[in-house]
Amino acid sequence: MLENLKDFVKPGSEEESLVKQLDFSRLPRHVAVIMDGNGRWAKKRKLPRVEGHRAGAKSVRQAVETCAHLGIEYLTLYAFSKENWKRPKKEVATLWRLLEEYLKNEDKVLVKNKFRLKVIGQIEAIPDSTRKELKRVEELTKNNTRLTVVLALNYGGRDEIVDAVKKIATDKNLDIDSLNEEKFSQYLYTIHVPDPDLLIRTSGELRVSNFLLWQIAYAEIWITQEFWPDFRKKHLLQALVDYQKRERRFGDIYPR
Ligand code: IPE
Ligand code: IPE
Ligand code: MG
Repeated sequence: MLENLKDFVKPGSEEESLVKQLDFSRLPRHVAVIMDGNGRWAKKRKLPRVEGHRAGAKSVRQAVETCAHLGIEYLTLYAFSKENWKRPKKEVATLWRLLEEYLKNEDKVLVKNKFRLKVIGQIEAIPDSTRKELKRVEELTKNNTRLTVVLALNYGGRDEIVDAVKKIATDKNLDIDSLNEEKFSQYLYTIHVPDPDLLIRTSGELRVSNFLLWQIAYAEIWITQEFWPDFRKKHLLQALVDYQKRERRFGDIYPR
């Protein structure tokens, strides 16, 4: 149970009743989120798409804080897919700039709260100044153990698998006959990160959009109609309560 429930949720609120439904011994270790719907959120308000991305930063902050409060160990956020380069140049440039600003503003919060930042994706292609900032904050937080925030940037699930195969092909220490699922996963970007237990997608799309294809094999999927900038603590708690009602069988006939 949470130590200071009152600091976390308002007494009598919907959040409080959701927290009370949670079984803290069965929380997911790893929650992964496809943060979608920023553009539509902005369009609904007759604002430029980038305003949706800007507004989404608040939801990121709240999701990180909520996971940390609850004791969830890993939170992966899909922030830029490899396919997102297809978008207008200006939107792409703004996305990287917003991320850079976020890192410059939040680094102290990450350090103070003992959060660790880890980036997955093909980082070489990320604009220099943003990449430097990412490296700096990763280095700054690398020994933290409370919550690991994994940012998927210039990430593609198929690319990740192809990259793993390339590493395997050139690994002289590997006996190829000994390769199995467990060993294969050591060549993925997510080495040392357990597979997600819960995958959340906002804005109602029913697809995985090339996200963690290998790792979500047995993740529970939870979709909300809310656009990402409207995603609040309440929604994350709803997802967790729902997750705990599911029976995870992993192919067996009994829950595990
Ligand atoms: C998610 O919101 C953010 C990124 C993909 C970077 P979108 O920008 O995809 O918003 P919609 O889906 O167009 O509404
Ligand atoms: C997925 O959202 C990528 C991120 C959230 C970063 P998209 O908006 O790019 O996905 P599609 O185009 O709807 O599949
Ligand atoms: Mg989208």
